[in-house]
Parts: sequence; C-alpha cells; structure tokens
Amino acid sequence: MTKAEESNSKGGMEGTVAATTRLSDVQGLTGKLIYCGYDINDLAGKVNYEEVVYLLHQGQLPNCSQLESLRQELTRQRELPSGAIDLLRSLPTDTQPMNAIRTVVSALGCFDPEANDVSFEAQRRKATRLIAQIPIVTAYFHLSRQGKPLPYPDPGLGEAENFLYLINGRKPNEEEIETLDLCYVLHADHGMNASTFSSRVTIATLSDMHSAICSAIGTLKGPLHGGANEGVIRMLQDIGSLEAVDAAIGEKLERKEKIMGFGHRVYKVLDPRAPLLMRVSQRLGDKVGDSRWIRMSQRIAELMKEKKKLNANVDFYSASVYYSLGIPIDLFTPLFAIARTSGWTAHVLEQLTNNRLIRPESEYEGPTDLQVKPIDER
Ligand SMILES: CC(C)(COP(=O)(O)OP(=O)(O)OC[C@H]1O[C@@H](n2cnc3c(N)ncnc32)[C@H](O)[C@@H]1OP(=O)(O)O)[C@@H](O)C(=O)NCCC(=O)NCCS
Repeated sequence: MTKAEESNSKGGMEGTVAATTRLSDVQGLTGKLIYCGYDINDLAGKVNYEEVVYLLHQGQLPNCSQLESLRQELTRQRELPSGAIDLLRSLPTDTQPMNAIRTVVSALGCFDPEANDVSFEAQRRKATRLIAQIPIVTAYFHLSRQGKPLPYPDPGLGEAENFLYLINGRKPNEEEIETLDLCYVLHADHGMNASTFSSRVTIATLSDMHSAICSAIGTLKGPLHGGANEGVIRMLQDIGSLEAVDAAIGEKLERKEKIMGFGHRVYKVLDPRAPLLMRVSQRLGDKVGDSRWIRMSQRIAELMKEKKKLNANVDFYSASVYYSLGIPIDLFTPLFAIARTSGWTAHVLEQLTNNRLIRPESEYEGPTDLQVKPIDER
C-alpha cells in the first residue's frame, strides 16, 4: 500500500486536520460558520468589522472603550511609508491589483519600523499595521493607476467607510457603508482555507508576519479561491441576460467548465454566508432598479442545484453586491484580502503560540535506479 493510500488521501489534503484553532469553525455538514464561539448568522448585522477584528485577535467581543482604542490604533497605523507609495506609483498601470498588493505588502515588511524584530509582540503590532495598511495600499494603487492624487485617509471614518471614501472621492451613504462592512464581517475568517493555510505554513518556519501575509495574498488570488468573485461577474456579463442563462450554463457544464462561485471543499450544504449576501444583493438591485444580475444569479443557482447538486458559495453573491456598489471588478478579490487580513494575522499569531514546522510528505512516483551518464553521452 502506498503512503497516500495508507493515509486515505484523495489529494488536495482533503479531510486533513492541519492545525487546531480557536478562531473559526467551518461546519460543512450543517452549513454553519462560527467565529470564536459566535454563529455568523448572529454576528451579521449586529457587529461591525472592527468588532470582528477585535474578536479574532482577543477571543472576545470588545466593550465600547476597547473598540474605540482599536479604532484609534487602526487609524494611526494607516499611513504608508513614502517608499511604499513610491513603489506602488512605479508599478505598470495594468498590474493586477492583487499582484500590486502582494508586492507592496512585501515592501511594507522592509519599511516597517520593526522590520528586523520577529518577537511575538512585534509580530502582533505588525498584524495591526497590516490590517490598517492593506486597504490603503489597495485604494492608493487604484487611484495611482488612474493618475489621480492620493488623498489622506479620513481618521473619522471606519474601515469600510474610509475605503469607499478613498476610491470614490466622496463620503459613502449609510447603506453603502453597512453593505461593505457586512461583506468584511462575512469574509474575515474561514477555518483552514487555502490562503490561511499558506500563511500558517510560512510562519511555522519562524519567518515573519509580512512574509506570511504575502504567501496568503498570492494564494487567495487564484480563481479556485478568492479570485472566483471576479470570475462570477465576468461570467454574468458574458451571459448578458436572464434568457441566455440556461443555454450558457448547459454549454459550460457540457464542456466540463467550472462555474465560478459554486462548490466548496468543506460545505456539503449551503455556505451560510451565501444567503446573507443574496438578500443584500436583492435589496441593492431593487433599489437601483436593476435586478438583472440577481435574477440571473438565482437562475444559475437553481440550475447548478438541479444539474450538479452544487450550492453557491460566498463568492457567488458577493460579486453582484460589489458590482451594485460600483466597485471596479478587479478590486473584488482585493476586498476579500482586506477583510481576510484580520483572520490571516490572527492565525499567524495563533500558530506562533503553539508552533511546530508544517511539513507534509509526498509520494514519489518517478523512476528509480537510473545511472548518471557522462554529459556528452546524454
Ligand atoms: C471550490 C472548489 C475548488 C472545491 O474543489 P474540490 O473540493 O477539489 O472539488 P472538486 O473540484 O474535486 O469537485 C468535485 C466534483 O464537483 C464538480 N464541481 C465542483 N465545483 C464545480 C463548479 N464550480 N462547477 C462545476 N462543477 C463543479 C467537479 O467537476 C467534480 O465533478 P466530478 O466528480 O464529476 O469530476 C470547486 O468547487 C471549484 O472549483 N469551484 C469554483 C471556484 C470557486 O467558486 N471557488 C471559491 C470557493 S469559496
């Protein structure tokens, strides 16, 4: 029996427990998501993103003064070093935002005031800085690629509000703020997802916070993970109308194409974040008098259930929510990264508190017993 057969592996480390965590629990059979003991359905609409950041980093929800201190700290840490701004301004304007963010986060590790300090306390401070800085990097890159000036973040604004203010150059309304804030809450953490795993693998070598977050950003970018939300809206745009949905999805399935925003490694029932986002998407569509995207989405969901027994995941409805907010499509995955930085950094710190090198094995299936020939005989 091979090592893979012995460990009953289906590949992709399915079913493998890579770490214990107190941060979040993804219950695939019941469709529940828990952050530090709280059900996502209870958190959604009752707490804001900053409260979730506190929860993931402190293990409990904050009281008013704890929340205020965290807000002030995040506001203080938003400023980017001038070297990082020069770097993002120097990137080609057609750089994919996820690549720009990964590059600038790496540079932030060099410009960090505690760049060479890998003590636990320094890593904790770096975590707060990254949670505060990654939204600014994203907004500034977006402005810079359009040749626009880079305004100061507004210290009076919370995380979601400040991001919308920076990219749009105007203060968002209450509905826009609440919508983006809810998206941040729903994307903050999700068990041992691929990007979180890669951040834990990196820090487990006793590397550093910025390296771990660069690993995570690079992992999130792919279309099988966070990149799926951009794929969803591009698919809806390609299909174009409700009438064209059935034929288009039928053809894609015939060609064995993956439909972005469906399926999940862990959830065998509906992803609990999907209906929360679907309701927001529906409300926003009704409000702007354009329910085309949500109606197309709902038809795709029916077809996928019927033909493939697959449910929508978080990316399926977040795409139409972001679209209704007027956010450029290539900033959808960066928004996921902004929110998930709270979870990634919490996992990195958790890994450090009980660390062991993460080092799985592979099953060798290449040739054996080959003899080296002199180079002129090969
Ligand atoms: C999320 C995902 C990567 C999970 O992958 P996985 O656990 O490795 O599952 P598999 O890719 O092995 O899929 C199992 C079966 O379902 C099918 N399937 C899974 N997701 C599918 C999708 N989105 N569209 C069509 N078929 C899908 C596979 O083709 C496979 O069918 P088969 O057994 O006939 O070959 C996968 O569902 C996917 O690619 N989804 C689309 C991308 C996406 O939305 N990612 C965001 C996840 S939050």
